[in-house]
Amino acid sequence: MQTFRTKLSQVETALKEAAVYCGHGYESVSDEAVALVLGAAGLLPEQPLSLLDQPFPGETESQLAALLDQRCHHRVPVAYCLKEAYLAGLRFIADPRALIPRSPVSHVVAERLTPWWPEDQEPAVIVDVCCGGGSLGLVAAEAFSKATVLLSDLDEQALSLASENIALHGRSDRVIALRADLLSALRSGSIDVVLANPPYVSRAQMAELPPEYNAEPRIALEADAEGTELAVRLLREGARVLAPNGLMLLEVGETWMTLEDRLPKVPFLWIELPQGGSGVAVISAQELRDWDAAGIL
Ligand SMILES: C[S@@+](CC[C@H](N)C(=O)[O-])C[C@H]1O[C@@H](n2cnc3c(N)ncnc32)[C@H](O)[C@@H]1O
Repeated sequence: MQTFRTKLSQVETALKEAAVYCGHGYESVSDEAVALVLGAAGLLPEQPLSLLDQPFPGETESQLAALLDQRCHHRVPVAYCLKEAYLAGLRFIADPRALIPRSPVSHVVAERLTPWWPEDQEPAVIVDVCCGGGSLGLVAAEAFSKATVLLSDLDEQALSLASENIALHGRSDRVIALRADLLSALRSGSIDVVLANPPYVSRAQMAELPPEYNAEPRIALEADAEGTELAVRLLREGARVLAPNGLMLLEVGETWMTLEDRLPKVPFLWIELPQGGSGVAVISAQELRDWDAAGIL
């Protein structure tokens, strides 16, 4: 008899043999095996340990085989195989219309931007710019129960997924999907918090990414030749749209060093992230205005 335990072990071995790359929401092949086995059986991710010795339902074998084929032979990331992703404890619909949710900023947002945002204040308007499927903004809507949240992206496909995620979370009363080039559609001084996760992979780095990244939209990953163009534009536009006490969180991953080289006079504060990850700067509206006025952006 096949149990969940034996099935997990077989799937883990298959993933290892296929040398899949984990980096799209799951940290190891063991985590991926759990997600695939539970997904095939139609079970939620949180299960008691006693499930391990239960029989694996024979009728789900073909479903598991199809998932493994997608994962191992076509190198489709698990989130796209299962059409769902989890971020900061929330579930999102995930498919190739948008990047797979995995931003390390989500944990800071879920903690109400502590210690960067005053504990006793609620931001009135938050924008998740370059929102993809909208996960970061929806985590913000969960953390700040009174805020209006704008999910903004240039890509219609990503926005259609973001709209489905707004509906999934029942947030259409105060979360709005908006098509725009970065922050260009927003009024001056109208935004309290900007969450910005633009594409930042340089052209040279694009060529070296593992095949799993081919499943994601290119517009979500590839920036200009060195990867900093959209980040620099966001800093300049942020100086305009943020309210006087506003805050920007800018995520540029490993491109943070290139950004420092490009803007050598800007004293970025790269924060420590509770669950790992790098390249996230926290910047106040005042700093952005000072840098803009000093001509160092
Ligand atoms: C790194 S992905 C962000 C994913 C999302 N923040 C998340 O955590 O899942 C970058 C996003 O920026 C969008 N984008 C690219 N150029 C843009 C532009 N000029 N203005 C607005 N959005 C843009 C892409 O369509 C993509 O959805």
